[in-house]
Amino acid sequence: MAARLTRFSVSVDSDLLKSFFGMARKHGWRNRSEALRNVMRAALVRDEWQGNAEIVGTVTIVYDHHRRELTERLTSIQHDHHDAVLATTHIHLDHDNCLEMIAVRGRAMKVQAIADALIGTRGVKHGKLTAATTGRKLS
Ligand code: NI
Repeated sequence: MAARLTRFSVSVDSDLLKSFFGMARKHGWRNRSEALRNVMRAALVRDEWQGNAEIVGTVTIVYDHHRRELTERLTSIQHDHHDAVLATTHIHLDHDNCLEMIAVRGRAMKVQAIADALIGTRGVKHGKLTAATTGRKLS
């Protein structure tokens, strides 16, 4: 079933419009309506993430365990946020490198902050948070 379409008009600065359609072309969006729909959807997702939405996901990090006190620092961050850290899987990749997958669940902003702290710890070579919203709003 097709969603009902609504047409609306907007007023916008011509330079802003030109830049916007330049970006839309770069992304290969076929027309103005598609470009605007894509940007609106992205803004809605971002808004949900910044609010009280609950997310669940994993933080994946790669690091050298020989690096002084790095393992302790990473463990300490996880203990500081034990309510949001569900489980950790540690894989010894090779002689030097470790891969850790940390399952997390909680308020989007908090989970993002924990991920930033882990990924931003000096000595972490690579890191990424992958998450989805659960559909729950936390008060
Ligand atoms: Ni290891």
